[in-house]
This record gives sequence, C-alpha cells and structure tokens, in this order.
Amino acid sequence: MKIGIFDSGKGGTTIYRAIKKILPSEEYLYVADSKNCPYGEKTDEELMKIVTKIVDDLKEWGAEIIVIACNTATTRCIERLRKMYPELLFVGTEPAIKQAARSNHNRILVMATPGTIESERTKSLLAENKKNGQTIKLLACPGLADTIENGLDLDKKLDELLSKEKEYDAVVLGCTHYSLIKDEIQKFFPNAELVDGCEGVARQVEKLIKKIEPNGSKYNGGR
Ligand code: DGL
Repeated sequence: MKIGIFDSGKGGTTIYRAIKKILPSEEYLYVADSKNCPYGEKTDEELMKIVTKIVDDLKEWGAEIIVIACNTATTRCIERLRKMYPELLFVGTEPAIKQAARSNHNRILVMATPGTIESERTKSLLAENKKNGQTIKLLACPGLADTIENGLDLDKKLDELLSKEKEYDAVVLGCTHYSLIKDEIQKFFPNAELVDGCEGVARQVEKLIKKIEPNGSKYNGGR
C-alpha cells in the first residue's frame, strides 16, 4: 500500500516517523512543501489550490491513502478534499485537544498556527471536549512554523510568544512543526505535559490498513 504524506515542510516528518514505526513495510511518499510554508497564514482558497496540487501529484504517483501531516491543512481543507477525491482515503492531523482534555488537566494551552486556531474545526474540538472546570486557552503562534522550517531565530520567537504564558498542566502542540522543538517549548513549561497528535494519526492509519488489507502480504501485524 502506498501512503502519501504531506506538510508545508519538515513538520510532518514527526507524523511520518510515528507511522513508519508501526507500519514499517508500507511504501511512503513524502511531500515537504517548504516553498509554500507557512500554510498557517494563507487563506482557505490559497491553501486549497496548494494542497489540491499536492494531492493530484500523490495520486498520480500511486498513493491510495493520503495523510495530511499538517493541522492547518486538515482543519481547513480535509472536508473539501474528501468530497473532491472520493476514491482516496484521507487521514488528517488535528490539535490533540481531546487527548489533553481527557487527562485530568485543569489548565491547557493549545499552540497552533493562526489558520488552525481560527478554524471552525478547532472551535468544535474545544466545544466537544472541554470539561467543566477546565480552562483551555487557544494561542495563535504566527511565524513559529516558518522560524522552525527556515532555521530562523527560535529563541527570540519563542520568547515573544511564550514568555507571558505560565501555569499550564498541559500544552497541546497543534502544529506538526512544533513537535520538532519539544525540548525548547518544554523549557517554558517545565511541569506541563506536552501533547501532540503523532501517535494518534499513526494508529488511525494502522486501523485503515488493517481494514483494507486484513490478510495483506505487506501488513506485518502492526509491530
Ligand atoms: N506543520 C503545519 C501544521 O501542522 C503547517 C505549519 C505552517 O506551514 O504554517 O499546521
């Protein structure tokens, strides 16, 4: 089974690694669209144009499953893509708000791109999962994905975004690029659990493959 994965650059490699760990024998195609980074600061129409081209390419190269290893493209485009390409199977990446809210955390910070924070999907994830007594703050981080992608001044950017943020029990990394700088983010929140969607996405892909190839020659049982 060919699995196509894309992101606006290297952020999605965190997702790719998590999938490859449990499904080592599948074939992977990875598109790192760094030319168009940051996705999180584009309009829906701009983003749709960009991701449609990538999906077309991945389809042409034989991908049957498309993993959107990007919270921004998932929260803003996945529904339209599913309608446009009924022949493909899409797995998306969403801010792991559900996972963070399920644990007994009272104060949760969600870091994501402006595009993800403003999306209707993030609003519904919050409404569906926030428990009584929980505080969940959504923090748009303009420029952070770009800083990570292009190796710009990370300390300065993190200081600008996070130095006033304190006292959280959990921090949701709602952009796949942020999972690449976990250690740096953790320094601002030494006692918080950092939560991302990588393993959840990998499990989703595993479930799909099991369904499609229950006795498939390539499927190795998941481990
Ligand atoms: N890594 C992506 C995400 O998860 C996109 C970041 C960007 O290009 O703005 O949202």
